Amino acid sequence: MTVMRSDEPLGEPRWIDPWTRGQGETRVRALFARTWGAEPAGVWSAPGRITIIGEHTDYSGGLSLPTVTAHRTYVAARRRDDDTVRVLSEGADAFDGPGERWTGTLTDIGPDQVSGWPAYVAGVLWALRERGYDGPGMDVVIASCLPTASGLASSGAVECATALAANALWGLALDSDDGHAELAEACIDGEEAIARAPTGGLDQHTQLRCREGEALELDFSERPPRATHRPLYFPDYGLGLLVTDVRTRDRDRTPGYRRRRDECAAAASALGVERLRDLAGDHRARARIEALADPVLRARARHVVAEIERVEDVSAQLAGTGPAHERFVDIGKQLFRSHASLEVDYHASTPELNLAVDTAFRNGVLGARMVGAGFGGSTIALVRRADADGVARSIDHAFVEEGLERPRFLMV
Ligand code: GLA
Repeated sequence: MTVMRSDEPLGEPRWIDPWTRGQGETRVRALFARTWGAEPAGVWSAPGRITIIGEHTDYSGGLSLPTVTAHRTYVAARRRDDDTVRVLSEGADAFDGPGERWTGTLTDIGPDQVSGWPAYVAGVLWALRERGYDGPGMDVVIASCLPTASGLASSGAVECATALAANALWGLALDSDDGHAELAEACIDGEEAIARAPTGGLDQHTQLRCREGEALELDFSERPPRATHRPLYFPDYGLGLLVTDVRTRDRDRTPGYRRRRDECAAAASALGVERLRDLAGDHRARARIEALADPVLRARARHVVAEIERVEDVSAQLAGTGPAHERFVDIGKQLFRSHASLEVDYHASTPELNLAVDTAFRNGVLGARMVGAGFGGSTIALVRRADADGVARSIDHAFVEEGLERPRFLMV
């Protein structure tokens, strides 16, 4: 942990700039050539996921409204003549795992056979084969400018870029939106079965189906979720999303996520519905939820149902025709409400995430909230682009004052 005394000069906020696509491709191609002594057949990439609103709703059949980062994970790969899979990740030290290389065979991959970061690559190949797709082994290298362990779905980016590589190298022709939805479902299966990490599918569907500069409304009442593309015109109004990576992640994240999922299922069953989604938009639901005997289930259900309604509201604001400044103010309020709900009712926030959100609020942002699963990770703030550097400085300062590790920032 870097602890600075508050009388030391602070320096500049630490911004993480994205690589251009060209930089990412050149870097990963060079890494491939250095590692395997040959040219790759191609380069595929996937972005990070930023949930604008709609957190912890996917596994309750709900709605979510994410977008993507310009920061991407790049995979260079080529087919082999046998069924060996060789993988190297430039950033392996940032994942938990057995060093930076992994080698195995397609037939060896199965539950409890691969651990650490390679399981995210191997899991996708396993899941595609489980779905009846097949092809030979491959050599793969990975390089990324997307920060890991930051609530921006860096593991999803590894999976999705791998799935795109397999799609091309195995000639699967899964190129339409439906095809990408199928790839996303395979990534989810691989993450659950091989990497043993719980996920609700938000990350992978966003990372394979959302384009930069747009928001994607995902409706998880169906599997795969239905996607509606919405223009995200923040930049046209001088606005943007400031992402603060608070550089901490609770050990309790994975068990905490599993517990939330179980609690939501238990709350739905106590309320006599299949999924909590079934209660959104029902004006009598609130009273039924408040009558639940178990305070934990009551709080979880309250968050999920209200969060789904917030997604509907923010989507309507984005699609609306009212005065833009009013719509942005409304969207911002919903972000603050979402954060409060995730903190108080969902217990998914941390003191660091709260500090970033509160400092952003004191600096006049339109809205702010934690992003992703929580238990550490990142926050987003809807800011005037011209103010972003000043807000980042204030957040940086607040962390130093508290003796915390300095955050990192990126813009969307
Ligand atoms: C993680 C999961 C997603 C989603 C978010 C919370 O990123 O992988 O499926 O549940 O948390 O919204």
